[in-house]
Amino acid sequence: MTPPAPSKLAMVPFVSVDNMMRMVRDVGPERMMTELAERIEADFRRWPAFDKTPRIAAHSPEGVIELMPTSDGKAYAFKYVNGHPGNVRTGHQTVTAFGVISDVETGYPALLTEMTLLTALRTAATSAMAARHLAPSDASVMAMIGNGAQCEFQALAFRAMLGIEQVRLYDIDPAATAKAARNLAAAGLRVTSCASAQEAVAGAQIITTCTADKQFATILTDNMVGAGVHINAIGGDCPGKTELHRDILLRSDIFVEYPPQTRIEGEIQQLDPDHPVTELWQVVTGRAQGRRNASQITLFDSVGFAIEDFSALGYVRERVARTGHCQMLDLLADPDDPRDLYGMLLRSAG
Ligand SMILES: NC(=O)c1ccc[n+]([C@@H]2O[C@H](COP(=O)([O-])OP(=O)(O)OC[C@H]3O[C@@H](n4cnc5c(N)ncnc54)[C@H](O)[C@@H]3O)[C@@H](O)[C@H]2O)c1
Repeated sequence: MTPPAPSKLAMVPFVSVDNMMRMVRDVGPERMMTELAERIEADFRRWPAFDKTPRIAAHSPEGVIELMPTSDGKAYAFKYVNGHPGNVRTGHQTVTAFGVISDVETGYPALLTEMTLLTALRTAATSAMAARHLAPSDASVMAMIGNGAQCEFQALAFRAMLGIEQVRLYDIDPAATAKAARNLAAAGLRVTSCASAQEAVAGAQIITTCTADKQFATILTDNMVGAGVHINAIGGDCPGKTELHRDILLRSDIFVEYPPQTRIEGEIQQLDPDHPVTELWQVVTGRAQGRRNASQITLFDSVGFAIEDFSALGYVRERVARTGHCQMLDLLADPDDPRDLYGMLLRSAG
């Protein structure tokens, strides 16, 4: 006898990498990042409504595995994400992720999805959203140091949301720069490939650092950062993993997502624990000022916070509900009598 088909309550929508790519193609990457940024900004505006905790990180000599939970009381979400800078050598990605969003009322998962692509999209959306408040308003040139998996997403989000026209690329691996240059030129951006980070920052109003290395690296030194620049530092996101020389931090106005997490993981781990920083949500809500003048150096010390993933998961959940572009997974045991879980197992033998 064939066992009965799983009931409706057993099934959870699952967005595979294939379906995520279809969604990004259908919406268009730049439009999707702009819509994600709107959603993230809306959630930053109601920041106090969320449960917040620094992410739970399991460190090893090779990298880190992290869980990033948050809830607004109605929905609960978490992301599983790793960061392994040496992975590329063996054909693995530095960062992979998947995540879940659930209904708080029943605790039942409402969606399970790939989040490797979604993380790149939400990270770039968050960076561009922050830059809209912090970067010079006439910025048209961005330097991009680190031309790996995140690079093109960052460049395209900054074009869509800030009008960046030219990107100046540098990576210690020329093959990474060649890859990014090819992809971004095909997208219609003006691309300059540079032989050093110093060369890349020349004439840029925005500097994005997105390198991966498990050490206190010095991607930018103090002499490379001129007055008025906005720095979007996304690669320093773990204890012992930073990108900027400390002197740059001392000259910058520093904006962060969630201070208890950023003080452990961000560039500011190099500073005293009470060094003044501004929370981005305070800028978004008008409680604090973003860019004040043309000569100020602003720094978004990004590490990635759970609320950004919550926003992205909510976006995907709504879109999938409209398009049906998902698979249904038999994820939750659903016995006829909710207390007869063991009986369900017995009956499954036929
Ligand atoms: N803040 C966030 O929310 C967030 C989100 C995703 C990823 N990240 C971080 O961003 C970084 C980049 O991620 P990715 O997925 O693009 O990694 P990746 O491994 O695909 O790319 C990293 C690139 O940095 C280059 N690089 C390393 N050291 C360099 C140096 N000294 N100078 C110039 N280039 C150098 C590498 O050659 C590589 O091409 C990682 O550190 C990751 O942890 C942060």
